[in-house]
Amino acid sequence: TDEPLVLGIETSCDETGVGIVRGYELLADAVASSVDQHARFGGVVPEVASRAHLEAMVPTVHRALADANVTLADVDAIAVTAGPGLAGALLVGVAAAKAYAVALDKPLYGVNHLAAHVAVDTLEHGPLPEPAIAMLVSGGHSSLLLVDDLTGDVEALGATIDDAAGEAFDKVARVLGLPFPGGPPIDKAAREGDAGAIAFPRGLTGPRDYAEHRFDFSFSGLKTAVARWVETRQRNGEPVPVADVAASFQEAVADVLTAKAIDACKRHGVETLLIGGGVAANSRLRSLAADRCEKAGVQLRVPRPKLCTDNGAMVAALGSRLVAAGVAPSPLDLPADSSLPV
Ligand code: KG4
Ligand code: ZN
Repeated sequence: TDEPLVLGIETSCDETGVGIVRGYELLADAVASSVDQHARFGGVVPEVASRAHLEAMVPTVHRALADANVTLADVDAIAVTAGPGLAGALLVGVAAAKAYAVALDKPLYGVNHLAAHVAVDTLEHGPLPEPAIAMLVSGGHSSLLLVDDLTGDVEALGATIDDAAGEAFDKVARVLGLPFPGGPPIDKAAREGDAGAIAFPRGLTGPRDYAEHRFDFSFSGLKTAVARWVETRQRNGEPVPVADVAASFQEAVADVLTAKAIDACKRHGVETLLIGGGVAANSRLRSLAADRCEKAGVQLRVPRPKLCTDNGAMVAALGSRLVAAGVAPSPLDLPADSSLPV
């Protein structure tokens, strides 16, 4: 086809992602992760991530080009995550994108990381019905967005006021002696457990929170409650039922996330809910969201797990939409902005 070929670069956290998209078609999705280098710290170390991006950048671009069976000369536009994310990590991607844009004399599109998490779904399910509610849950963010127009009108309805959902999974995994990142091992352990075994708190769901924090999340109290529960067991010399704790914790997270997402759909009269971010890989979140969406008459869209976690394809996907919508490119002095709003 003659639709423009867009190369997308993502470096907001610990994944160096380079994606190549033509129209709605995904041609390459190369990701180099530094997650192993952070494992012994139990969380992403910004300096380590920046250095890893620097080393992985060019090889990952070349891997993506080879996977897509194209050359740099075929690229029509460069898209890059301008924020939000880790400042030093973002800088590496933005600098690389500018260099490619200048060298190739092609337009540069700085994009918002959260909007890109939404846009990636178009590569799997086609154009997004608008308006849509998007719930993005990862190690770095937990947000509810009202998407009126993916290329220009996205409103933040709420976000976490403390820990991100994925961060809670990572911290609880640590308490339970499970490896980092904690989402996958908790998901697995929970399959053998009883989700109703322990009543853990549902943050910001009480009637008093409704006015000010209706669409916000809080996971820090839940994390502390799990840690206290486990410590009490250990102090009493009792065994810790890891599967029951994992299942009960996971149920609390999935319950709050899906309840607030559906509430947002109803409040704004929206019939499409999209879930993205690394935590969208969670099996209980997916099944509970499917159940509750069906009851509420809401269409659920969840990209496949590889597209839910940070990658370059999502950036290329949004870049492709911006080009198609005729949005003006970014200036070549585009800044990296660690707290870029949607
Ligand atoms: O989107 P992502 O790859 O990176 C960012 O944080 O931006 O998300 C990683 C997060 C980690 O906190 C990880 O524990 C969580 O996603 N995660 C999961 C699952 N798979 C990954 N959380 C719950 N259940 C899972 N199956
Ligand atoms: Zn992300």
